[in-house]
Amino acid sequence: MAEVLVCKRGELADGAVRIVYFDKHEIAVILQDGAYYAYRNVCPHQGGPACEGIRVPRVIDVVDEHGAYHGQSYDKEQMHIVCPWHGYEFNLKTGEHPGNNRIKLKKYDIVERGGEVYVAV
Ligand code: FES
Repeated sequence: MAEVLVCKRGELADGAVRIVYFDKHEIAVILQDGAYYAYRNVCPHQGGPACEGIRVPRVIDVVDEHGAYHGQSYDKEQMHIVCPWHGYEFNLKTGEHPGNNRIKLKKYDIVERGGEVYVAV
């Protein structure tokens, strides 16, 4: 297995995305809340640059114990990547679409070594 250098630890600002390339593939490395995530930058819908979209918390319905609906809120523990082409969302931690986990971004492992960050390809 090969590794592609992404950056030095601390080089990227939190919330940043860095695109690296391996074997003609674009891999997006996202730093969010101190953790790195890496996905192939290709949306399973129609091939858009999914990882270059905004990130938003998951929207959840607020329903009380009687089943009454009280609007919507955000689950800030579940950040989503939003594909900029048509709005498909993917869980930042898993790469899975929240409504169908068979639709997902291709995930890569991150390796941190010697003060540098790599993606394992
Ligand atoms: S290409 Fe990503 S939502 Fe359509």
